[in-house]
Amino acid sequence: MAAPNIETIVSLAKRRGFVFPSSDIYGGLGSAWDYGSLGTELCNNVKQQWWRWMVHERDDMEGIDSSIILNRQVWKYSGHEETFSDPLVDCKECKSRFRADKLQEEYIQKHPAEKLTIYGAGIVSFAQNEIECPNCGKINWTEPRAFNLMFRTTLGAAAEEDDPTALAYLRPETAQGIFINFLNIQTTMRRKLPFGIAQIGKSFRNEVTPGNFIFRTREFEQMEMEYFVKPGEDERVHQEWIDLCFDWYKSLGLAADNLRLYEQPEKELAHYAKRTVDIHYRFFPERAEDERQWDELMGIANRTDFDLKAHSKKPERDGERINKDSTEDLSYFDEATKERFYPFVIEPAAGVNRSVLAFLMDAYTERTTDKNETRVVLKLHPSLAPIKAAVLPLAKNKPEIVALAKSIKHFLQPSLRAVYDDTGGIGKLYARQDEIGTPFCVTVDHQSLEDEAVTVRDRDTWEQQRIKVADLREHLQKRLNEK
Ligand code: GAP
Repeated sequence: MAAPNIETIVSLAKRRGFVFPSSDIYGGLGSAWDYGSLGTELCNNVKQQWWRWMVHERDDMEGIDSSIILNRQVWKYSGHEETFSDPLVDCKECKSRFRADKLQEEYIQKHPAEKLTIYGAGIVSFAQNEIECPNCGKINWTEPRAFNLMFRTTLGAAAEEDDPTALAYLRPETAQGIFINFLNIQTTMRRKLPFGIAQIGKSFRNEVTPGNFIFRTREFEQMEMEYFVKPGEDERVHQEWIDLCFDWYKSLGLAADNLRLYEQPEKELAHYAKRTVDIHYRFFPERAEDERQWDELMGIANRTDFDLKAHSKKPERDGERINKDSTEDLSYFDEATKERFYPFVIEPAAGVNRSVLAFLMDAYTERTTDKNETRVVLKLHPSLAPIKAAVLPLAKNKPEIVALAKSIKHFLQPSLRAVYDDTGGIGKLYARQDEIGTPFCVTVDHQSLEDEAVTVRDRDTWEQQRIKVADLREHLQKRLNEK
């Protein structure tokens, strides 16, 4: 089973310290979230797993950590200044503001048989005479207009708010930091094609309609990789990355039934993409219509040679340089064939926060006890679980038991994340660890003082096993790897 809806996870996340509404004591800040102790561990584990899989376990990968604020020219030549926008419309009656494309999508879903009169508005076709305002029910719209999603800021103490020479943006994707460093990495690390550059970091988008918990926020984290290949090899390599990424999510426990591949139709493709396949997760299982249950978890795009060309001082068109501001040519010289060309780029791009949401939803299970009580058990993959083992004393008023339990926690913690907890009866302590996904509980009891052994309880089966303290670390590590 998985969580029946996102609300179940919102409540668990707040109750157990994974995620809290941000700025809550001041009334919150729409769709901003703070990660608590367990949420921070979970995010770090997702990023660590991705980095290990993407960078450390491969021979063709380098890492990078580029700036969040880049020279404004980066966003001019990448196309973001011109095209990274959502079409907005205002209701002239009640002054509410909406994304025109979303209104249109919803309308088409509700009226599949009806023929729409589409009015081309330069930005998006919008059926202005049919769609009622979801707020007031009237039909009186402004023309759609483009709203750029990049957050603006000004650089320098003396800069005026509207000084165009000081204008800068918070990056809306980590990818551009990779493209502008392509030659730096390729030459310093002596790389030949094919190879990739991976980056994890924050991105910012002034989303018009953020929401659904951590699914869509204005500040979020991305795990992106740009894989550079010879033109002509791009289609095969693209397909390989689609399969690898799909398998990565499955290897970390996401059920195949809750994952699907979605081929973006041509009209949805970004200006740089030749083909994009998204991995969808069933984020909305409560929706009646199957098609509306899915949304994007990650995208895998074939970006062609668009970005490297766009940021290069070459090429020339009609005797004039297309990019007048770049000082570098980001083309590649192939020693074997003595050819110079712009590599094609395959880009797997995932969101840390959306991945965390999918892992939480998929891990959610409920189990009934002998006493007919419902318990939540979060069956997170052990590598993602925020805590690997909880050490629990059976009697907290017995100093020898408490001392032994604390020393076991200290003995375990250099090799795996362990906690000590004595703030309840053993049943309550087990239930708390089940609910946050801790794979093993280690119970220290009176007998432990005599036989130097403890009880190890498995989160998924609730089975218990007696293990010698001296063998405990090795035992837990072995079972964590097996799970
Ligand atoms: N460089 C390509 C790129 O950024 P994208 O599909 O716009 O592609 C990649 O973003 C991933 O980043 C998405 O699949 C999603 O997981 C995550 N993402 C994008 N916008 C987000 C937002 N507003 N909130 C949370 N995650 C987001």
